[in-house]
Amino acid sequence: MRFILLKYHLYMITLIVLGIMFSGVQAQVTLKDAFKDLFLIGTALNYSQLKGDDPESMKIIKQHFNSITAENSMKWEQIHPGPEKYEFKLADSLVAIGARNNMAIIGHTLIWHAQTPDWVFNDDSGNELDRDKLLHRMKEYIFTVVGRYKGKVFGWDVVNEAFEDNGSLRKSKWLKIIGEDYIQRAFEYVHQADPETELYYNDFNMWKEDKCAAVINMIKAFKANNIPIHGIGFQGHWGTEWPTNDSLYMALESYAETGVPIMITELDLNILPMAFDYFGADITKRAEMREDLDPYKEGLPDSMQIVFNNRYLDFFKAFIKYHNSISRITFWGVHDGISWLNNWPVHGRTAYPLLFDRDYQLKPVINELIKLVKKPE
Ligand code: XIL
Repeated sequence: MRFILLKYHLYMITLIVLGIMFSGVQAQVTLKDAFKDLFLIGTALNYSQLKGDDPESMKIIKQHFNSITAENSMKWEQIHPGPEKYEFKLADSLVAIGARNNMAIIGHTLIWHAQTPDWVFNDDSGNELDRDKLLHRMKEYIFTVVGRYKGKVFGWDVVNEAFEDNGSLRKSKWLKIIGEDYIQRAFEYVHQADPETELYYNDFNMWKEDKCAAVINMIKAFKANNIPIHGIGFQGHWGTEWPTNDSLYMALESYAETGVPIMITELDLNILPMAFDYFGADITKRAEMREDLDPYKEGLPDSMQIVFNNRYLDFFKAFIKYHNSISRITFWGVHDGISWLNNWPVHGRTAYPLLFDRDYQLKPVINELIKLVKKPE
């Protein structure tokens, strides 16, 4: 009898151990492994992660991602806040994390209309620079920053958001002072500073027809002038209605035809009510908080969970269909609790845009996304 009981206990222990191992295997599905044959999977690191103050996020970053971007720490206002001042600490830390963990490090972003201090466009007496002086300043900046990380940064978002949705060039100070060729000059300078690094053009609403046509024309002009470009970045700040599946497929198809790889560089899904009649990700547009704009403070209802899952499924179906042309998918942040969408365009909302929830758990939709990989359409 005793022997039988012992055997039973051993059997139960074996079952429990197997159970733990099995659930462990399930819990260990990682994003980078799930999509390893198709694309790199990236995320953006914020200040506290780079300062070492958020070990729990760091665990996820190392486990699930094979590419990293700085959410803010490589922007002009952070890295070069004053004429004589460079601050490399957090950018250095990003590069060290990437190098230690074999991750493709993406530099974000060199030339942009936002998060660039006003002094950049003025001389010491506050007068606006002329074309040559601004080009000189741009070149100096690019040589300093790109030069510092030469051989370490896999690719740079060289120019961010140069076009309006209607395809015209955004009326930034770069355009006003230097003229249309500021984009090409920036690409040339980065290439001179680090001939091996990849060079990307990055923008939101890349699926809009007019913007798509304008970016493709720019790529053709680059090719005609022998200016290198290695990637087309779709920021991927998307919503429940936009982009429609048709517009996304059409845009992916058109960019794929250029032969330049596509990257989804800042993916997140905003399922909160729209704050204004504008769909895009221009950080200079903001709206006031209203009660009806923040409906899911206590959690997401099932109906919205379904919307969330279906939209991510739509996105990944498109990515998988065009996987030969898409090299990387980067999420804009690690988990819902720290997404910029909690504070843009309205400050202080409760947003649910990413694949990890506020408790650092991978959301169930991952299982459906993985099934798509096995059965590409
Ligand atoms: C955002 C950051 O996530 C925020 O923390 C910051 O306050 C503003 O910028 N397009 C871009 C990103 O290219 O750099 C922006 O990041 C989001 C929109």
